[in-house]
Amino acid sequence: MPQSSITAKRSYPLSSSEAKACSLLEQMTLEEKIGQMSQVNGGGWNLHDAIRNGHIGSVLNEVDVEKVNELQRIAMQESRLGIPLLIGRDVIHGFKTIFPIPLGQAASWDPKVLEQGAAIAATEAASTGVNWTFAPMIDITRDPRWGRIAESLGEDPYLCGVLGAAMVRGFQGNQLSDSNSIAACAKHFVGYGAVEGGLDYNTANIPENELRNVYLPPFKQALNAGVATFMASFSDLNGVPAAGNEFLMRQILREEWCFNGFVVSDWDAIRELTVHGFTANDRDAVLEATNAGINMEMASSLYKDHIPSLIAEGKIEEAELDSLVFGILKLKFELGLFDNPYTDPGQFPQPVNPDHLQAARDAAERSCVLLKNDHQMLPLSRDALGSVAVIGPLADDGYEQLGTWVFDGEAHHSHTCLQAVHDLAGDAFEVRWASGMSSSRSRDHDGHHEAVKIAAESDVAIMFMGEESILSGEAHCRAEIDLPGSQEALINEVAATGTSIVLVVMAGRPLTLGSVLDKVSAILYAWHPGTMGGPAIIDLLFGVAMPSGKLPVSFPRLVGQVPIYYARKNTGRPPSHENITHIDEIDGRAAQTSLGMSAFHLDAGFTPQFPFGFGLSYTHFDYREFERSAESIAMGETITLSATVQNCGSREAEEVVQLYIRDLAGNVTRPVRELKGFRRVPLAPGESKRVSFEIHTDELAFHNRKMELVTEPGGFHAWIGGDSNAHLWTEFQIRE
Ligand code: BGC
Repeated sequence: MPQSSITAKRSYPLSSSEAKACSLLEQMTLEEKIGQMSQVNGGGWNLHDAIRNGHIGSVLNEVDVEKVNELQRIAMQESRLGIPLLIGRDVIHGFKTIFPIPLGQAASWDPKVLEQGAAIAATEAASTGVNWTFAPMIDITRDPRWGRIAESLGEDPYLCGVLGAAMVRGFQGNQLSDSNSIAACAKHFVGYGAVEGGLDYNTANIPENELRNVYLPPFKQALNAGVATFMASFSDLNGVPAAGNEFLMRQILREEWCFNGFVVSDWDAIRELTVHGFTANDRDAVLEATNAGINMEMASSLYKDHIPSLIAEGKIEEAELDSLVFGILKLKFELGLFDNPYTDPGQFPQPVNPDHLQAARDAAERSCVLLKNDHQMLPLSRDALGSVAVIGPLADDGYEQLGTWVFDGEAHHSHTCLQAVHDLAGDAFEVRWASGMSSSRSRDHDGHHEAVKIAAESDVAIMFMGEESILSGEAHCRAEIDLPGSQEALINEVAATGTSIVLVVMAGRPLTLGSVLDKVSAILYAWHPGTMGGPAIIDLLFGVAMPSGKLPVSFPRLVGQVPIYYARKNTGRPPSHENITHIDEIDGRAAQTSLGMSAFHLDAGFTPQFPFGFGLSYTHFDYREFERSAESIAMGETITLSATVQNCGSREAEEVVQLYIRDLAGNVTRPVRELKGFRRVPLAPGESKRVSFEIHTDELAFHNRKMELVTEPGGFHAWIGGDSNAHLWTEFQIRE
């Protein structure tokens, strides 16, 4: 590709990787170019000849370092141009050392946790020759039925953007060419989290304005953090599947955002353009995908089969093809693969080493969210307890605690809760154990008797319930999101013994817990906590550590409330506690009364069970003295919003201080609240701190009806507090 064709389109000069990619392109045959655009599945297939002949640019799912080195050797030494391979792998929440699922990590509200987790995952993955991961997944989702909510960072564009960018920094390190950096991939571009009915692969319909205000911002943040690649979603958006969506891939990503990296399709998704009913056959699918700007095809081989004839017939211009190949070669140069294609595992720290385990433990600790703690049931006292009943199918299952989409982590590395409680108890108290159920889904009651018996004999019952790993993740959606199998019955039976219950939930999504809420004294939501989940959870239950996680997603009372999220619109008839009626309060043969004429469900009201941002601690935080730096600011200025937060308890703790705003009137209606800042604040017992957020008027911008990104003058409300229901507030104006 002549350098001039790139420089013609932009004002700044070529980087050295870009210049090298250009000169390499000029030497390539059409077949070799198409080869670069093809990614094939490894995992045992003999790819040697195809690599030798320049037919493969990337391999995914090969993590045997010797095999990877051999593939790279063939690519470097036996193919005509010696172009190294991209080796891709899903490294979603850890490689060998497994961190909490992404939704759990998001509950830490701690970018450092996500950055460090991604950096450790990158180091471990890179030690096997992997140089590219398909993460972070930054699909906004407001639907816990969707199994992939587990892989997401939750419902909020701001939180997801900050945390997703942290993951990009973690994977990619200081520079891509460092030996422990791997290229990241922002996925799935875009709208996948809005699939109808929370059903995987389903269609998504998102008005452009909402797309730009809610679904796109995290991707823009990832881009700003330097993400090397994007992955197109499986789903169709407003009738156009992402793998053939020119508007998304060309207009937004390349033209508006000036992304100059490359886009990979999802698995087989170019072939699926025809299954969607978007194209009539494979050949048309290739035409649409290349027109849209999908640089690399994952898994299927349609590019190889159809691009040559499409070029011959002039349907695809070779210059266009060159620009797609260019992005792939550029990344290979940026990763330093031409100079260092081979991996020496001896140069890397041992995977699953004590430092990595400690980081995973810290992450799990920060990810757990304390949802309920009646009468300060928690923390449990090691010294005051005589006996503890440990119950539940997830108490001692090293595999299930790892969570979804783990291909390289191994259950034998896991530290389970049962092991951890034994370690902590020593001789101090007796630990009795019964799983009660053979799996989280089991419907039989055979094991209940033993569990009830040990609960009755013990001072407290800790029940480890929830979902096993396979109930969330890709293609694992649920229409009911309650505790599966006979779990509710078991909780009821244990509650009937009179022994207090501490419920620990491990799950890949928010579950509806309303039916067991009154039966238990405390609830710790642990998501799937990963390799070190056991010690992290037990430390929290016994007060060795302090719970500090906050929900990255609203928890519905009933599944019928979905989608329920804090940043809802006010509507013309906003609900309040005064204008709603419960179904049981309606008189028999009631006349057609308005029942408050507001937006609520008769059987669920309008609030979630637990709101976004919520999470308890063993201490209590007081918020006061909200101050603004000005009553009004001019466009282009910054306002400082600050409040005092005090730790009113007797234990050192960290609070996640959150700032929400509301734009009172907009060219399009604005959410009732939007997160605009957050900070983890460590506080000694009794200590107070001022926490300030500086908000520039640009940070209050949104896309209006004309899709322009604008900040509008007018009135704003702002709240600072510990969750999305924060009460302490002030108001300010933006002047013209
Ligand atoms: C998923 C992607 C993933 C790819 C490769 C697909 O099924 O949707 O998120 O990266 O597989 O494993």
